[in-house]
Amino acid sequence: VGAAREALAKLVVDVPDFPEPGILFKDITPLLADHSGFAAVVAALAAAGCDADGTPVVDKVVGMEARGFILAAPVALALGTGFVPVRKAGKLPRHTHAVSYALEYGEATLELHQDSVEPGDRVLLVDDVLATGGTARATRELIEACGGTAHGLTVLMELGFLAGRDAVGDLAVSTLMTV
Ligand code: PRP
Ligand code: MG
Repeated sequence: VGAAREALAKLVVDVPDFPEPGILFKDITPLLADHSGFAAVVAALAAAGCDADGTPVVDKVVGMEARGFILAAPVALALGTGFVPVRKAGKLPRHTHAVSYALEYGEATLELHQDSVEPGDRVLLVDDVLATGGTARATRELIEACGGTAHGLTVLMELGFLAGRDAVGDLAVSTLMTV
């Protein structure tokens, strides 16, 4: 976790006024492009799916489109599980569960294939950022609609001032960096 935190501090680039004036964007692409930094953060995120002895305890890893995919897929391989995508509306071809949630302006809908999580599965949620918590909360609802349980959410960064941790209720959250 120490190596991952160092990599984040060094390789996440702050971009002021993107995508809109007043927003400070955290660009993780330099971190992803650095093999040892990427490996360190994947290992640290995967620890959230293990018990105290480092033994994996989850059955599936879910990543949220789009940036969550980049991190969740290697975390799934590290834990010896499959990877399951939660996608934005209209992208998954078979029967889905869908959950809509409010954004600052408008609404977003996320979907999950109904058979991608089995009843009783313990699922680790992986994303890059926890902001308001809307994405994570909707993802948890999707997992529960399949009969699975959310083991926890692990993210690279938490935007503490947006109180996403409160919005996700009793979902366990682990983060490598708080902004
Ligand atoms: C971003 C980020 C998280 C989400 C966090 O995704 O990658 O998934 O916002 O915000 P929340 O906690 O307020 O829900 P976004 O959909 O903006 O973009 P992406 O498709 O590039 O991941
Ligand atoms: Mg996202």
